Amino acid sequence: LVQGAMGKAVALAPDSWIPGGEPDPLIRARHGHVGRPLSRLDGPLKVSGKAPFAAEFPMDGMVYAALAFSTIAKGRITAIDTQAAEAAPGVLGVMTYRNAPRLAPPPVFLSNSKAAGGDNLPVMQDATIHWNGEPVAVVLAETQEQADHAKSLIRVEYQADPAVTGFAEARARGTRTGLFMGQPLHNTKGDAEKALAEADVRIDATYTTPRHTHNPIELHGVTAAWEGDTLRIHDASQLVAHTSWSISQMFGIDEDKVVITSPFVGGGFGSKCLWQHQVLAAAAAKFAGRPVRLVLSREGVYRIVGGRSLTEQRVALGASRDGTLKALIHTGATAKTANNVLPEPFIMPTRSAYAVEAMELDVQTVELDMLSNTFMRAPGEAVGTFALECAMDELAEALDMDPIALRLRNEPEKDPSTGLPFSSRHIEEAWRSGAERFGWKDRNPRPGQRREGEWLVGMGCATATYPYYRMAGGAARITLAADGRATIDIAAHEMGMGTSTVQTQVTAQRLGLELDAVTFNYGDSTLPGVVLAGGSQQTAAIGASVGAAHGELVKSLLGIVGNDSPLAGLKPEEVESRDAGLGKRDDPARHESYASILARAGRSALSVEAQAPAPLETQHWSMHSHGAMFCEVRVNAVTGEPRVTRFLGSFDCGRILNPKTAASQFRGGIIMGLGLALMEETEFDERTARIMNPSLAEYHVPVHMDVPELDVMWTDIPDPRTPMGARGIGEIGITGTGAAVANAIYNATGKRVRDLPITLDKLL
Ligand code: MOS
Repeated sequence: LVQGAMGKAVALAPDSWIPGGEPDPLIRARHGHVGRPLSRLDGPLKVSGKAPFAAEFPMDGMVYAALAFSTIAKGRITAIDTQAAEAAPGVLGVMTYRNAPRLAPPPVFLSNSKAAGGDNLPVMQDATIHWNGEPVAVVLAETQEQADHAKSLIRVEYQADPAVTGFAEARARGTRTGLFMGQPLHNTKGDAEKALAEADVRIDATYTTPRHTHNPIELHGVTAAWEGDTLRIHDASQLVAHTSWSISQMFGIDEDKVVITSPFVGGGFGSKCLWQHQVLAAAAAKFAGRPVRLVLSREGVYRIVGGRSLTEQRVALGASRDGTLKALIHTGATAKTANNVLPEPFIMPTRSAYAVEAMELDVQTVELDMLSNTFMRAPGEAVGTFALECAMDELAEALDMDPIALRLRNEPEKDPSTGLPFSSRHIEEAWRSGAERFGWKDRNPRPGQRREGEWLVGMGCATATYPYYRMAGGAARITLAADGRATIDIAAHEMGMGTSTVQTQVTAQRLGLELDAVTFNYGDSTLPGVVLAGGSQQTAAIGASVGAAHGELVKSLLGIVGNDSPLAGLKPEEVESRDAGLGKRDDPARHESYASILARAGRSALSVEAQAPAPLETQHWSMHSHGAMFCEVRVNAVTGEPRVTRFLGSFDCGRILNPKTAASQFRGGIIMGLGLALMEETEFDERTARIMNPSLAEYHVPVHMDVPELDVMWTDIPDPRTPMGARGIGEIGITGTGAAVANAIYNATGKRVRDLPITLDKLL
């Protein structure tokens, strides 16, 4: 099976996702394309400016759009004066609710397997205002500058209605249990309050995290055109098939009449889904009878693209003197809107974290009149691990115990919430190897002891975790050409993670081909599959789809081999893909290349398509990526300035398919985690529900000066229950990072900051 050379491997569709099933044979292929640190295949296109992004597609007769935004949180438009704008140079027209095409509301994400909307509010259909920043007019002009200028001439009058905009005030009036994917965000096991009261040692604290705004470097933008009755949208998307279906529902046309393409995306993180701008561009293209380009300004992203909501979390831990957890309480509240489906699910990481008999987990929600919040890298885990893992650090200190030892003391044998066995959990190995590499033994457990000049130095750690998902809807087409080269078609996405590179590696290995014999097509809603680049699950979704299509391919090839082939009479389970063709297992002599099979059968090509098997694995196993995060900080004793000086992420995420792209994913997550820890905060005016810092000048994200060299390592232990043995790696880097930084700051200074971001004013 392991051939020891490039382009030789195996396999039929794996069935690792059911008990008794065989792990994906690719797990055992150790010496091929998979696991190599291949550079991004699309890298040269990107750095030479040849990779077209959504707002770069030229179209004949294209016009430019600019949006005007509401300035009240709730109420109605009583007058809208567009005359001056319409008379401005270059302006073709102004679209408002009065003249916009009639549209159904967007299907909200998770309400249907193909829904893509961040909320289900109507898009410019009437005078009602639902949030401060809602688009009220689209100006169309010959140039972007003309559109932007004309937009400034629009005058809107409103009648404001009382709006619910204050979190504490709304919370005092009553909350509801949050629902995530239809399930209550609530777990009870035993009597946690009683166990807490009876524990030898306890800590009980409140942690708060602010709103965060998405800031992918590529602004959200589209180029949209009606070609006859077909709507073509070049989008920046992490869900092209969902977007196609959702927009078709809104316009009341067939799904195959909405073509969404998105070959390159400059960062998504949960934000590159369906918001009003795509719909407004499509409607404006209809209104103007010309193609429309609509690129949000950075302010526009803050006004109409949702981000992470705020949380207030209580974590209470009770333990016996030896550090055995007796009670775990993680409860609190978050704000959402009435029209979206994501109560920031901060208890998610806690459900599977520690062995404990008494557990109380709960997320309460209040609904505010504000911009919809949404998914943002590790929704739930990013901020939930901040609270939980800071609390573990506080408990370790109360017990006078090493925080890593405390975590390992409470390592569960099976999932503490569901009782399911873990598919693969090697977090102890991640802690052991990470602690050694980071030099954890040099940490002084007593805070505030190490000083170098003006700088107080400390170390902290935290657990990282993110669930394994594989969503239904994966499908792929494999087409073999007469020369034996393969093309893979799937409606998947490359947002900079390395997907196209890694999936080319995986597919080449599975088909027994050289890398340059595989073409991976993606980013187009007309291709097979309904695949989301989100939930750190796209790699598994594609891998399972290609595995299934490969199984079909083998069957089809054996169906046409004919009696003269060395493969004549063989059954699918007797053959494997190797050396650019099929061969009998354990029999090097019986082999025929794909090109030869097709030639013999007189075929110019062979195409097969298959659905991925249903994602049953998470019903049988508790499946999660894990990590151990280590941070060293320096805090200036005079100014309070915190500086992260060293960081190590030691991960256990199954098999790493490409160490180069994986390391970048881990580092990118950690960098976003440093932002969460130290600087990111959407300033929300509770009087008006207006976001006050809608720019990168006022909303701070880490820049190079803020980021030290980030060390990453991994166990590389395959998960036998996943395609290729891999679990997700896209989101875990942001988890645990906030707590590792906060815990290091405590170790440096003796100051426990439970309110993110940890800015210098909180350290003085
Ligand atoms: Mo993500 S928040 O799953 O793009």
